[in-house]
Amino acid sequence: MTDTKQDRVLIFDTTLRDGEQSPGATMTHAEKLEIAQLLDEMGVDVIEAGFPIASEGDFAAVSEIARQAKTAQICGLARAQFGDIDRCWDAVKHAKNPRIHTFIGTSPLHRAIPNLNMDEMADRIHETVTHARNLCDNIQWSPMDATRTEADYLCRTVEIAIKAGATTINIPDTVGYTAPRESAELIRMLLERVPGADEIIFATHCHNDLGMATANSLAAVEAGARQIECTINGLGERAGNTALEEVVMALKVRNDIMPFQTRVDSTKLMNISRRVASVSGFAVQFNKAIVGKNAFAHESGIHQDGMLKNAETFEIMRPEDVGLTETNIVMGKHSGRAALRSKLENLGYELGDNQLKDVFVRFKELADRKKEIYDEDLIALMRIATDPE
Ligand code: KIV
Ligand code: ZN
Repeated sequence: MTDTKQDRVLIFDTTLRDGEQSPGATMTHAEKLEIAQLLDEMGVDVIEAGFPIASEGDFAAVSEIARQAKTAQICGLARAQFGDIDRCWDAVKHAKNPRIHTFIGTSPLHRAIPNLNMDEMADRIHETVTHARNLCDNIQWSPMDATRTEADYLCRTVEIAIKAGATTINIPDTVGYTAPRESAELIRMLLERVPGADEIIFATHCHNDLGMATANSLAAVEAGARQIECTINGLGERAGNTALEEVVMALKVRNDIMPFQTRVDSTKLMNISRRVASVSGFAVQFNKAIVGKNAFAHESGIHQDGMLKNAETFEIMRPEDVGLTETNIVMGKHSGRAALRSKLENLGYELGDNQLKDVFVRFKELADRKKEIYDEDLIALMRIATDPE
């Protein structure tokens, strides 16, 4: 067994693929490149940069991200079709370390869509994974809706994918249906029953429909999974995906009971969270774990008193560990230009002098009408200031 298998957990970020699939979260080409660069710099192991067959835009973004990535593996998604896989390879092949991720829905409901019986689907998996492996030596295969797939059939398909050359097997909880104990049992069962399972990496990919995505991902890791698939701010379809910041900080803060390491520099979490919120247009809820506005805020007198005496009284993490500066700049009509620039930089906006001048005038007009200016007001101001209409 390698170190990775024992205590290293790979972080696979799919903000630019599963996250961008949330209705309304579409990002521009430039925004995708920027987020990919932040993910790479932060120490994410694998970036799923898009779904190259989906559009010319996705293909171009994945290709360019592949060219620009310094350390992270760059992955693209492909259905179980030769055309998808070829297109995916054409996009990711420019990366230092490319990965093809191919998938097919294996549960009864999903098998009915392409109208394949179990044997026909098994053949399709064998052919497509073999095809992908002939192009690239880093292949991820996913049985979509794994958590609602019959156990025997799941084991059979995973075995076929491993024999055909898959190096990572991802187990998606596509509809956010599983619970922590079941998530762990599924990984344990696959490790025990599937020949060759100890030669590959198992990944966990959870959706948050019942609010259990983080717990399910961590339970899978405790059972032997060594890759967590996640997104910044938990962005993703419906109730979203496992939030990257939550699993990274949970493994860091509770390393005493979950002794696994990631490569992620947690001090970069707040900045990337804000950038993703800004470019996707999906604001982070105030009480969101780790990156919410109130995650390190204290209002009540008792809490404030405790915090002043010893921060550990009411905080299990230091704000600096997630990249928060301790200074809380309260914005109002007496604030100056330097304070506005600093606040906007904290929110992820870099402004030139002329742009700052313009935003400052708008800010003063607003401050005359409103007692306190919240982050959301500044984000709205920035939207108006940068809207070409
Ligand atoms: O949720 C899911 O099943 C997916 C697959 C494509 C891996 O996103
Ligand atoms: Zn998904």
